[in-house]
Formats: sequence, structure tokens, C-alpha cells
Amino acid sequence: MKLVFFGAPGAGKGTMAARASADFSIPHISTGDIFRNAMRAGTDLGKKVKSIIEAGDLVSDELTISLVKDRLKNEDCQKGWILDGFPRTIPQAEALALFCPPDLVIDLEVDDETVLKRLSGRRMCKVCGQIYHITNMPPKKEGICDKCGSPLYIRDDDKEEAVLVRLENYRNQSLPLVEYYKNRKILFAVDSRGNADLVWDGLKKALSGMKGW
Ligand code: AP5
Ligand code: MG
Repeated sequence: MKLVFFGAPGAGKGTMAARASADFSIPHISTGDIFRNAMRAGTDLGKKVKSIIEAGDLVSDELTISLVKDRLKNEDCQKGWILDGFPRTIPQAEALALFCPPDLVIDLEVDDETVLKRLSGRRMCKVCGQIYHITNMPPKKEGICDKCGSPLYIRDDDKEEAVLVRLENYRNQSLPLVEYYKNRKILFAVDSRGNADLVWDGLKKALSGMKGW
């Protein structure tokens, strides 16, 4: 099964995609994680995207599309995949439709107030990328990842000024995808304002019956 997790910054794409990936045993591919790993490793890709990401702007369609196209050719994607954070512009959706059309697009719906609360409290593992929240999903030991014991950090683009730019970009460049996928009858909206278990229940409803695909 080929799934896209769509939604505003902080909607819960990464959190829910990680759960779904474990449940369905298919890879979770987050373009944001790919860029952050490249930035941390200091690769050419990381150097190219660092200032763009820290400001909350979007990386070019050309670069992002070629990166995803290559990633989906990997052996581990043959039985399906979950894309988190891609596509987020119409040209990206059009490109994906040509090289690997998704079966279902999950739109995680949230309001701005929820987004701001979630992003201001988010912590991420420096090594494995596990996502936490200081009150909603705290680690057992403050500042330390439960899964791998590495330190947690605050993303540079979670500073308020970058969050506002990301929300603006989401409205202008990503929101048109809702109509795009509605027209193709593969969009399923999930209320993502509740706690993680509630959102997961809504998601499972959308995905029920897909396991055998
Ligand atoms: P990316 O990493 O994709 O960032 P984003 O889209 O802004 O989304 P986030 O990762 O901030 O939020 P999320 O929806 O994953 O929420 P999460 O699960 O973490 O992209 C970063 C940047 O990379 C972009 O700005 C751009 O520059 C570049 N980029 C990436 N893809 C690109 C593309 N396709 N084209 C161009 N540029 C691209 O949850 C957030 C917090 O809430 C966490 O603390 C979590 O614990 C908590 N939480 C989650 N769900 C719940 C819940 N149900 N209840 C309570 N708390 C919850
Ligand atoms: Mg994310």
C-alpha cells in the first residue's frame, strides 16, 4: 500500500506515520527527516538546504522530487511506503502521480492553536528521530530518548518566527493539494486535534481493509 500523510506543520504526520509504518511493516519516508539527517551529516545536500529549512521555507520542487523518486526505487519500497511531508506542492503531486501514484492520502486536520502548542513543546531524538512532546508525549527520562538513549533537541525551525513562515507556506502552497486529491477521490480526512490514541483510531478507520493490499 502506498500512503501519503498530509497536513500542516505539527499536525502529527511524523508521529502517526511512525505508528502506521510499524503496524504495516512498510517504510516511513519523511522528506524533512532526510533533509535533517543530511544537515547533521554535513553532506552537500545538507549544506544546500540548511538555511532554507531553518527559515521555514520550502526546498525546491526539482531537488525534492528527484530525492523522493530515487528513494522509492529502493528494494524496501516494493511492497509499499508511507510518505510524510511529500508531496506538499502541486508540481510535487503531479510528479508523484507519474512515477508512483499513491493509493490513499490521509489529511491530518488541525487548527493553528493546536499546531503552536505542539511545536513549542516538541523534542526530537538527535540520533533515531523519535518524536516527543514535553507534556503530551514526554520521554521517561527528561531530555533522553526512550528508544536509543541519545539526547533530545529542539528543531531550529520550531522557533516561532520559522513556524509562522511554515504555516504561511502550508496555506499558500500545500493546502491546494486537498482539492487536488479530493478530485481524485483518494483523500481521507482525519481529525488530528485529539490525543494520539484518538487520532490513531481515526486513522485505522481510514486504513481498515488495506492490510491485504
Ligand atoms: P517536515 O519535517 O516535514 O516538517 P513539517 O511539515 O513542518 O511538519 P512537522 O514535522 O513539523 O510536523 P508533523 O506533522 O510531522 O508533527 P509531529 O508528528 O512531529 O519538513 C521540514 C522542512 O523540510 C520544511 O519546512 C521544508 O523546508 C523542508 N521540506 C520537507 N519536505 C519538503 C517538501 N516536500 N518540499 C519542500 N520542502 C520540504 O508532531 C508535532 C508535535 O506534536 C510532537 O511534539 C508530537 O509529540 C506532538 N503530537 C503529535 N500528535 C499529537 C497528538 N495527537 N496529540 C498530542 N500531541 C501530538
Ligand atoms: Mg514531521
